[in-house]
Amino acid sequence: MRKIQFFDTTLRDGEQTPGVNFNTKEKVQIALQLEKWGVDVIEAGFPIASPGDFEAVQAIAQAIKKMTVTGLARCQKKDIDRAYEALKDAVDPQIHVFLATSEIHMQYKLKMTREEVLGSISEHVRYARSLFEKVQFSPEDASRTEKDFLLEAVQTAIDAGATIINIPDTVGYSSPSEYGQLFKFLIENSHSEHEIIFSSHCHDDLGMATANALAAIENGANRVEGTVNGIGERAGNTALEEVALALAIRKDFYPCESKIVLNEAKRTSELVSHLSGIPVPKNKAIVGDNAYAHESGIHQDGVLKNPETYEIITPTLVGVKQNSLPLGKLSGRHAFTSKLEELGYQLSEEESLEAFKRFKALADKKKQITDKDLLALLADQYREETEKYKLANVQVHYSSTGYQGAIISITDEKNETKVASQIGSGSIQAIYNTIDELFQQTPELTDYEIQALTGGEDAQAEVHVTLLDQETNNEFRGIGVDFDVLQASAKAYVQASNHLKQAKESI
Ligand code: KIV
Ligand code: ZN
Repeated sequence: MRKIQFFDTTLRDGEQTPGVNFNTKEKVQIALQLEKWGVDVIEAGFPIASPGDFEAVQAIAQAIKKMTVTGLARCQKKDIDRAYEALKDAVDPQIHVFLATSEIHMQYKLKMTREEVLGSISEHVRYARSLFEKVQFSPEDASRTEKDFLLEAVQTAIDAGATIINIPDTVGYSSPSEYGQLFKFLIENSHSEHEIIFSSHCHDDLGMATANALAAIENGANRVEGTVNGIGERAGNTALEEVALALAIRKDFYPCESKIVLNEAKRTSELVSHLSGIPVPKNKAIVGDNAYAHESGIHQDGVLKNPETYEIITPTLVGVKQNSLPLGKLSGRHAFTSKLEELGYQLSEEESLEAFKRFKALADKKKQITDKDLLALLADQYREETEKYKLANVQVHYSSTGYQGAIISITDEKNETKVASQIGSGSIQAIYNTIDELFQQTPELTDYEIQALTGGEDAQAEVHVTLLDQETNNEFRGIGVDFDVLQASAKAYVQASNHLKQAKESI
């Protein structure tokens, strides 16, 4: 059977989701879970992009034992050198070099002629190959590139030593049959003395990313790139869990195998959702909360008689637990740590102790601590660790007529406290005006969402906010979880304000 390699770019293309910014610890946790999920190659980041990206790629290269670890590089020597430095400790390093080949990109973005582009591919792929055994080349915007020129670019990369050719549908423009035909054309017309793996990389602008990836596989691609939950720039990337399940459930149609451990799919999805702050839509294929819910009477009747009447995937196949046992006030450290492992977390002793302390505080207020509560607790702990300014206290003065008031204090890294007070038309506005004063910033609040984390009256509130910095047009997101809606709202806003401030300070 043909083996299909899974290449996960959640930490690189996925992190290009507006407002998503994983810190190094979060990235390492996700990488370890991807390894458990059976991913073959992880794109850990773009090492030249920032010192933070470099540090994360290096930390992942050192932590990963089985997967190939790759880093992105433009066709520039300094990018390739930086990727080499970041990846040199990896058990199995790979580099991913890219250069755009479509007319529109060459003319307007790169301002390069076709000859210059071919020359650059040849020079930089050759240089990359002098440092790495595994070299992947991507002609960016391949699906909008003139076909014969694309073939020339691909052949140039192969001749210079590329071992993997990735064909990006950068703007999600292709249709499945067209994208499949492109693979057939390139595979039939390129030639090489060494083995070449062809790989798909699709974006979901027209909602066809998964269909396109499968069409590529049908036409000879042996590697598929994508992200967990399909997160990524604009409409996102191919959702890898969808491809994995399509291959598994429709083996009759796609006679292929992958190393993906199917019952780790749900766990992987939840981890990425909590750490990225991007909720999984309830109706999302494979991992959405409603993906296995049967609402209509006729369907329920059918499923009770024989689940296969309306269920092509059994929920347990992807790791959806029918009845996961919640923890409570009396649960001990052992039960707590094994639950965290079950949820995909691998914590150091110090982190685990801190998490246990937070868990006990939560259990004092909430009877049953569900998996969702724990995932939120862990994600909160990780995010707070990197915050320079921490929320210390929130006091709100509510009046049923007129303005509301807030007094808020935050502490900085030196544990020094700053206090401010402001009013607003509503309590949230009063809180946000006060935090703006503390941070000396005036961003625009472009999104505020609140949801109950679980069912029941003692459910915690999860608040997501997005702030827009009008000066740079950059967005910053924050998430806050708490019993109290106002406290959760304040936490989310402080977190987004921290991100904004740190971005400003690093300019
Ligand atoms: O979508 C794209 O073209 C990319 C490349 C860098 C591979 O992400
Ligand atoms: Zn992409």
